[in-house]
Amino acid sequence: MQVVTTRAELRAALASVPRPLGFIPTMGWLHDGHVSLVARARAECATVVVSNFVNPKQFGETADFERYPRNVARDNAICEAAGADIVFAPTVDEVYPPGFDTRVAMGAVALPLEGAARPGHFDGVATVVALLFNLVGAERAYFGSKDYQQVAVIRRMALDLAIPTDVVPCSTVREADGLAMSSRNVRLTPAGRAAAPVVHRALAAGVAAIDAGERSADAVRAAMSRVLAAEPAADPDYVSVAHPDTLAELAVIDGEALLSMAVRIDGVRLIDNELAG
Ligand code: PAF
Repeated sequence: MQVVTTRAELRAALASVPRPLGFIPTMGWLHDGHVSLVARARAECATVVVSNFVNPKQFGETADFERYPRNVARDNAICEAAGADIVFAPTVDEVYPPGFDTRVAMGAVALPLEGAARPGHFDGVATVVALLFNLVGAERAYFGSKDYQQVAVIRRMALDLAIPTDVVPCSTVREADGLAMSSRNVRLTPAGRAAAPVVHRALAAGVAAIDAGERSADAVRAAMSRVLAAEPAADPDYVSVAHPDTLAELAVIDGEALLSMAVRIDGVRLIDNELAG
């Protein structure tokens, strides 16, 4: 496996690799969710590239960006074991050289849910992913579905900007107790970690209500909120029942619905979702 840190090294490393090229953009602190993305790319592509870059443009507060866990040596070992061919781990100046002055401004898909809670976040994601897609030039890019709205934003951005990289959503990987794997989980205290599976239990209650025939989105939101209310450590940010394509909140569930939520536990903001119906 080759580790490159500059655009020029990346270009040279990619010059004559076999295609198709599979790409996994990450912010490092890799876990089994990322490993499953690399494994999927490895199975479907001749060359696998992982990027490891904590993108300052997608963080609201500098403190949050600085607190983000980092360990590139550990991440490189995980990538190598998972079968990656190339890791691109650039500095902030390499990605955004002095004078960089462009921002991808996303529309409606970026406004609700995470977009409402984190203004500007998806513009930052779209900006860095557009740039990385252009630098890597992959046929396919693999993303975890825990970040459902992120996948929708990136798919929209690639379509609108005519970037010929297929966006491939992959199933969320969970711990045995249902907690969705996330680089943020490491910041939970032991008590917070014990409380965190409530997020998936709440989603499961919503799915069960729909499976049992409930068609009122408010009743499904209430079923999920009741589960969260029973866990004192859980501080919900939003609980949503939305259309899976437009992400607009539903009144009546008459097809597939996206159940999603953001919940603070121990000050760590956890997000998760399930499709139902
Ligand atoms: O999901 C992430 O880790 C990041 O948002 C991404 C897609 C790598 C862009 O920085």
